[in-house]
Amino acid sequence: MAGIDFGPTDAGALKALQLDRLRATVAHAYANSPHYRAAFDRVGVKPGDIGSLADIAKLPFTTKADLRANYPFGMFAVPTEQVSRIHASSGTTGQPTVVGYTAEDIKTWSGLVARSIHAAGGRPGMKVHVAYGYGLFTGGLGAHYGAEALGCTVIPMSGGQTEKQVQLIRDFAPEVIMVTPSYMLSILDEFRRQGLDPRATSLRYGIFGAEPWTDAMRAEIEGAFDIEASDIYGLSEVMGPGVAQEFVGSASGPTIWEDHFYPEVIDPDTGDVLPDGAEGELVFTSLTKQALPIIRYRTRDLTRLLPGERTPMRRMAKITGRSDDMLIIRGVNVFPTQIEEQILKCPGLAPHFLLEISRPDRMDELCVRVEARGECDRPAQARLLGSLIKDAIGISAHTEIMAPGAIPRSAGKAVRVLDRRTKEIAQ
Ligand code: DLL
Repeated sequence: MAGIDFGPTDAGALKALQLDRLRATVAHAYANSPHYRAAFDRVGVKPGDIGSLADIAKLPFTTKADLRANYPFGMFAVPTEQVSRIHASSGTTGQPTVVGYTAEDIKTWSGLVARSIHAAGGRPGMKVHVAYGYGLFTGGLGAHYGAEALGCTVIPMSGGQTEKQVQLIRDFAPEVIMVTPSYMLSILDEFRRQGLDPRATSLRYGIFGAEPWTDAMRAEIEGAFDIEASDIYGLSEVMGPGVAQEFVGSASGPTIWEDHFYPEVIDPDTGDVLPDGAEGELVFTSLTKQALPIIRYRTRDLTRLLPGERTPMRRMAKITGRSDDMLIIRGVNVFPTQIEEQILKCPGLAPHFLLEISRPDRMDELCVRVEARGECDRPAQARLLGSLIKDAIGISAHTEIMAPGAIPRSAGKAVRVLDRRTKEIAQ
């Protein structure tokens, strides 16, 4: 792993480093962020009470609501003059969540994205096509700075302008592409629309994240482009892309860069810390961030912690969904990824879909609109999908097969759900 720092190589050294960094982070947050000081005081914990990694459970959780309540800069633990970058995530409700970085934070972040791209197969000297959106979203600039830090040539394409994406991939010959998996499928459609062979490009590695995607989607993208696909995970509140990254060829889930982010999985209802391997809500504590230290941040993402494979750092299983993405349809918990899995079992269907939930008659109804791959026996595919969903998830869905291209595309994260029930009824 020449030139790239993959952190401590043995578990003991990793734990010692984590504890040192945890104590420093807690002290920094308590001393410099009125929010954290008040939150710690409320539960009667002082920085000196953190004597072991397990003591982290004494600390209160942080949620998106805390960031909103301190909008825009109230959670920062350094004076704003020391903040060299702001990002924000739009979220589904009005106010954006704002995050800030010192120059040192940007350096740390770039180093971790460089590590991630290296783990994904990228090497200095390669060209990296960045099709994550640039701007307040962390995807574009996060990927960009990381690729530069690794010594790559960056093509800062951003999202959208799908025809141009195809043109630049052909003309500039990048080896690596970084993009949401759903937008990669739109780029694929554009190759096909122009009668071009997507397997004939220079691309070798795809680094996909920012939204949940399944192994079936991985197989689809790898086959269509003849590339190796890996999963990159991250969230703005914790840093941005590069909190965790899958090693190329492993398909075994992203390794969490635990020397910078301490992970826990909790029971989302009780808040109790669960043992490794158990499914629950992922919680992160930043270990090196200056501008916005984040303590026990509840991500809402559901996953499991798995043992380390290439390094002592633990991995996370693919995100199955978010606790707040979870649809409850006639009492059954349903995640959009579960529907995607069934769609990809139908040979005539493409993984472009929209779930529409309504309650016309006091009963929830789920309509799955999904595109055909081309010519296919639509009624037969609709029946097949309906029965797969019924068998795997236990709900009856109305399935509607649409013409290729009929589902609106997004150049970033895909919109999968249209919930027409009123908020109060849906809860
Ligand atoms: O999506 C950061 C990012 C950019 C990650 C580019 C990877 C690539 P946010 O906009 O704050 O940040 O959204 C964070 O997106 O809590 C997850 O629900 C979801 N998410 C991110 N990566 C993955 C992934 C960026 N690999 C939220 N698999 C997170 C599943 C993901 N979900």
